[in-house]
Amino acid sequence: MDKILDGNKLANELNLELKTKIDLLLANNKKRPKLATILVGENPASKVYVNIKHKTCANIGISSIMINLSANISKQELLEKIDTLNRDNTIHGILLQLPLPDGLSKYTSEFIEYIDPNKDVDGFHPINRGKLFDYNEELAACTPKGIITLLESYKIDLKGKNVVIINRSILIGKPLIFMLLKRNATVTICHTSTIDIESHMQKADILIVAVGRPKYITKDKIKEGAIIIDVGTNRVDGKLCGDVDFDDVLDKCGKITPSPGGIGPMTVHSLMQNTLIAYTNQESHRLE
Ligand SMILES: NC(=O)c1ccc[n+]([C@@H]2O[C@H](COP(=O)([O-])OP(=O)(O)OC[C@H]3O[C@@H](n4cnc5c(N)ncnc54)[C@H](OP(=O)(O)O)[C@@H]3O)[C@@H](O)[C@H]2O)c1
Repeated sequence: MDKILDGNKLANELNLELKTKIDLLLANNKKRPKLATILVGENPASKVYVNIKHKTCANIGISSIMINLSANISKQELLEKIDTLNRDNTIHGILLQLPLPDGLSKYTSEFIEYIDPNKDVDGFHPINRGKLFDYNEELAACTPKGIITLLESYKIDLKGKNVVIINRSILIGKPLIFMLLKRNATVTICHTSTIDIESHMQKADILIVAVGRPKYITKDKIKEGAIIIDVGTNRVDGKLCGDVDFDDVLDKCGKITPSPGGIGPMTVHSLMQNTLIAYTNQESHRLE
């Protein structure tokens, strides 16, 4: 099974390293890093994701608070809540769990822009997105950051490689462009309007898939020896699965991330990493 890029195992190891750093901070009488999450409404998948984030915080020594708000909250009330967290010096990271309920989702960009960019541990604020243009990944989006950490930890060289991404969202495809260019990969982005998408997939040394369609990638679509990064998270008959038909491609691919157990835990690790970066930036600034 040396083809498996084990995101679960790697994230656990890397989270332990963060725990060691936090233990050292506390041993030196430093403040404990603290993350605040905001969950609006009752979306069951969002509840699961937020709970995983809090559990990981607790495991590594980051303090966290979850702010549960009714789906009927007004735009102004949510902005005020964000403002309170922005001003609270004990909070180092703020995460607004997306998607927001129907009445508020049209204001999503406004809410994100209202979060203090120094506390924007999801990396969605326009300032942090803009920094990526300069290859500054300090507070970059967690899923792409997790993908890059996984590739680098497994010593997968990106220089000159044809990397094909099937996704152009601000969450995944767009930030990945800059992260991959920084590492000298040749990057192709595909989406629903791409003509002859299969010819692109078949040329990929590394194929990153995040379309949200179970079994979208089968062995006829990939190059022999390709590295497959399955970002998709789908629920079929109550069970989680990715976008790749894992059993079908296993023989033909070079390496592959399972889903679940691949990019999901790496995304949560990146959130922990971003929270510690935000903490360090804010606390060192306060000491000046
Ligand atoms: N593992 C994790 O931690 C994690 C984190 C975030 C998201 N995800 C998963 O990743 C997937 C994508 O998430 P997202 O938020 O980026 O979704 P999204 O905004 O809906 O983006 C989906 C992307 O896939 C493209 N696409 C969809 N069907 C396609 C097709 N048949 N052929 C070519 N391109 C196609 C879309 O193209 P257009 O732009 O043309 O519509 C779009 O760019 C979901 O399954 C989500 O659950 C996983």
